[in-house]
Amino acid sequence: MITSATFDKADFTPDVLICVDQSGIIDRVISATDSDYQSVKQTAKNQDILHSVKKGSYILPGFTDLHIHAPQWPQAGLALDKPLYEWLNTYTFPLESKFKDLTFAKKVYHSLITELLANGTTTGLFFGTVDTESNLVLAKICAQLGQRAFIGKVAMDNPKQTPTYYRDDSSATAINETENFIKAIFSLQKETGAELTPVVTPRFVPSCTAETLTGLGQLAKKYNLPIQSHCSESNWEDQYALDNFQKRDSQVLDQFGLLTDKAVMAHGTKLTDDDLNLFNHRQTALAHCPISNVYFGNGIARIKKAHHSQVKVGLGTDISGGFSPSIYRNMQQAIMSSQMLVDLKDQSARLTTDNVFYLATIGGAKALHLNSGQIRSGYKADLQIVSDKYFNISIKQPHAIFERLIYHTTKEDIQQVYVSGKLVHNKLGENNG
Ligand code: GUN
Ligand code: FE
Repeated sequence: MITSATFDKADFTPDVLICVDQSGIIDRVISATDSDYQSVKQTAKNQDILHSVKKGSYILPGFTDLHIHAPQWPQAGLALDKPLYEWLNTYTFPLESKFKDLTFAKKVYHSLITELLANGTTTGLFFGTVDTESNLVLAKICAQLGQRAFIGKVAMDNPKQTPTYYRDDSSATAINETENFIKAIFSLQKETGAELTPVVTPRFVPSCTAETLTGLGQLAKKYNLPIQSHCSESNWEDQYALDNFQKRDSQVLDQFGLLTDKAVMAHGTKLTDDDLNLFNHRQTALAHCPISNVYFGNGIARIKKAHHSQVKVGLGTDISGGFSPSIYRNMQQAIMSSQMLVDLKDQSARLTTDNVFYLATIGGAKALHLNSGQIRSGYKADLQIVSDKYFNISIKQPHAIFERLIYHTTKEDIQQVYVSGKLVHNKLGENNG
């Protein structure tokens, strides 16, 4: 078993038994050195004990994807040579507007959620579309497939920055539809018992009028809900805030009550030291999207600096600003991109495998106030069983195994995935596990 202990260190414990209670919470983690290991192992029933896995396989916590646009899945990997503004207007808004067709929405969302679970993502913080009904389709599919999901109806009503065919037609619509969506998710949650949470979601400052930003800040407060948006992703976004509000992007969001301890802001490639201090002051989290930032970020987010400024940080795929649905692939890129900051003379910027594993597990969980992301007593049993495909030919020292898993795991190597103790992805035969 491998679980993150601190930002700088992952713990490796061989041969564990993970006992999960009826509500999907880890009751005990028993290691081979515990006196009752043998007796528990012998009396264990399949349904309440996840057995230690085969040689060369390891149990890891499931990952949190802290920033993903569900409706952009059909264009993952397309048009990434275009700048953000052109990419949004020429490709992304037309695609997202198609989700009014609920049959199309169902097909895409089923494909996406299946893919995320197969990649070890147990929690997702999703942007949906402008259309409430299609967002409810996403929520129902998450409930059906067992994905823990935080979902937002995208609010965007600024006629100067959004097309007529894809926008809330007024500020009142943006706010009322967000409230309708919140209530609908609460009912669905009651009805199904699924782990679904509505999220207040202004797309980003340029796409919203001041009235909408005000109303959304009030809704988040009224229902005590998470908030998600983009902040200082690019030079263009920062310039928009300066030109229209004479402030930094982070200050505009703060002015409308949108930087809270339940807010998660994506990208932050351009955040200054003052912005980071504001994030820390508000206890707002940052979703680091390292693949996407290569394309649209005009720079590299200073993740070590954010962490040392005591800002909560997790990892996001930003499908489809990032092409990959895999948090493994994003952990690799987070390390690679941080090396470029090292080249730019910031020697302290280098991220390690232990650092990025923390971001993917504990970091994401903290941002969403979840007791998940760790394999310890009292935490949700969000687990993935992963095989080390080079086990037979490679170094078997624990940290080498850990690093190899971070760099080489693809979905083909992920055998089983559990969310709150429930099996949601299974590559093993019934009698094989
Ligand atoms: N800013 C506003 N909308 C988007 C989006 O869909 N993707 C990215 N990467 N940035 C955005
Ligand atoms: Fe995004």
